[in-house]
Amino acid sequence: MKQGRFVSFEGIEGCGKTTQIGLLSDYLKKKNIPFTITREPGGTAVGEGIRRILLHSETIHLTAASELLLFYASRSQNITEKIIPSLERGETVICDRFYDASKAYQGYGRGIPIEFIDKVTELVCNGYRPERTVLLDIDPAVGLSRARARNNARAEDEGRFEMENLEFYTRIRNGYLDLARREPHRIKIIEADRTVEAVHQDILRVLGL
Ligand code: TYD
Repeated sequence: MKQGRFVSFEGIEGCGKTTQIGLLSDYLKKKNIPFTITREPGGTAVGEGIRRILLHSETIHLTAASELLLFYASRSQNITEKIIPSLERGETVICDRFYDASKAYQGYGRGIPIEFIDKVTELVCNGYRPERTVLLDIDPAVGLSRARARNNARAEDEGRFEMENLEFYTRIRNGYLDLARREPHRIKIIEADRTVEAVHQDILRVLGL
């Protein structure tokens, strides 16, 4: 059976994921390579509902455990409804965040043990994992100022995580780098504080495109 490629994008806020995923999708279109883009949290009807709970700045008193399980509830829907069917159709799946985000944010950021997150991953992901993960690495001070400017300018309120402090994002950034050191063949670190075009070219290179 033909099976598509599964690729994920990761990085802290303001690393430029959205712009780079847009450029990659333009490239794939030009080359006639079939693909699907999805995002987490979100990507399905249930997932988009969960996204509103998770990201709205008025969501308070959310425990770290609730936060983790809501992200995984969204991921479970996304895998079953979108990722697996797209891969089976032979499409390249580009996922805007996947389980590395839970390890970085809920693990290194909130302090939930990584071994526990690995167990939930096993249950929810059923062996599905990205063959390549693009980690856009940026200084948290630079990323956060970009992200806050963007969040102030947009209509929907998705600012709950952006209210966290620099120390939180520094833990997450270091967490991502740690994950990349443990799986250097899958997770490719790309220096994101450069021109959009330079970053795009590096992404094509690590994806072998
Ligand atoms: P995202 O929509 O990618 O936001 P942005 O485009 O601003 O980077 O992600 C939303 C937020 O959710 C982001 O702060 C990271 C966080 N997140 C987690 O904490 N755990 C997860 O498992 C996922 C998928 C996202």
